[in-house]
Amino acid sequence: MMGAGFDIITIFPEIFHAYLGESILNRAIQKGLLDVNVRNPRDFTTDKHRTVDDYPYGGGSGMVMKIEPIHRAVNTVKSDGIERLTVLLTPQGVTYNQEKAEALSAYLSAEKRRLLLICGRYEGIDERVRDSLVDEEISIGDYVLTGGELAALVIIDSIARLIPGVLGDEESIKEESFTWGILDYPHYTRPPEFKGMKVPDVLLSGNHGEVSKWRRREAIRRTLKRRPDLLKKAKLTEEDNAIINELCSNEK
Ligand SMILES: C[S@@+](CC[C@H](N)C(=O)[O-])C[C@H]1O[C@@H](n2cnc3c(N)ncnc32)[C@H](O)[C@@H]1O
Repeated sequence: MMGAGFDIITIFPEIFHAYLGESILNRAIQKGLLDVNVRNPRDFTTDKHRTVDDYPYGGGSGMVMKIEPIHRAVNTVKSDGIERLTVLLTPQGVTYNQEKAEALSAYLSAEKRRLLLICGRYEGIDERVRDSLVDEEISIGDYVLTGGELAALVIIDSIARLIPGVLGDEESIKEESFTWGILDYPHYTRPPEFKGMKVPDVLLSGNHGEVSKWRRREAIRRTLKRRPDLLKKAKLTEEDNAIINELCSNEK
């Protein structure tokens, strides 16, 4: 069975236990498709107070995560000799997206490779961690979080759902937003009418060919309206281009 393995360096391990203990990711762990090993730098301190942060050299507000406990934690993780990509979560990194999730998932699909994710806190981590231990830096968006834990969970979650067997219905991956480079089509379920709002007739018709055509068209319409930038890079067919031309000329 192919899966994905992660090692996390965090001073808040419970955040991971809480999220990974629920729903689909919990089932993936039970099935052996996902393995997440969490290490707390506090367990690698040598002083009575288990200190993981200190004042910044040069002054200024906030605290900085010390290098020694992180260095020891990372070296302990790496002592098994398994090949790993070490990633620092930081708002200064390359912005994460579905393409990156797919690339990392491909990296992890080779047997025994793992991803090591380092979560910062406070004002960040001593720069020498970045210089000596890190292969890549990833940001999950242009905003600042209080810690790297949510960012690490975003990465784990987005990669886990690409592992065959994690989602019940593999088809759902193929059709959703970004997989084909465009946004997903609108979804409906029962009832067929709610407070005057009707489900489009074609979805109730039972005609699978027409349903597929409608979905593709709506996905393109939505992408054109909300994220036209995606269409430039998307894998489009001649039929898709004809739909785009028609939708654009209807707009005029
Ligand atoms: C308060 S932030 C520190 C921000 C740092 N002073 C800076 O401006 O780059 C604390 C930690 O949260 C994490 N973090 C914050 N925003 C993030 C983002 N957009 N993507 C990934 N990690 C983030 C990083 O691990 C960071 O070390």
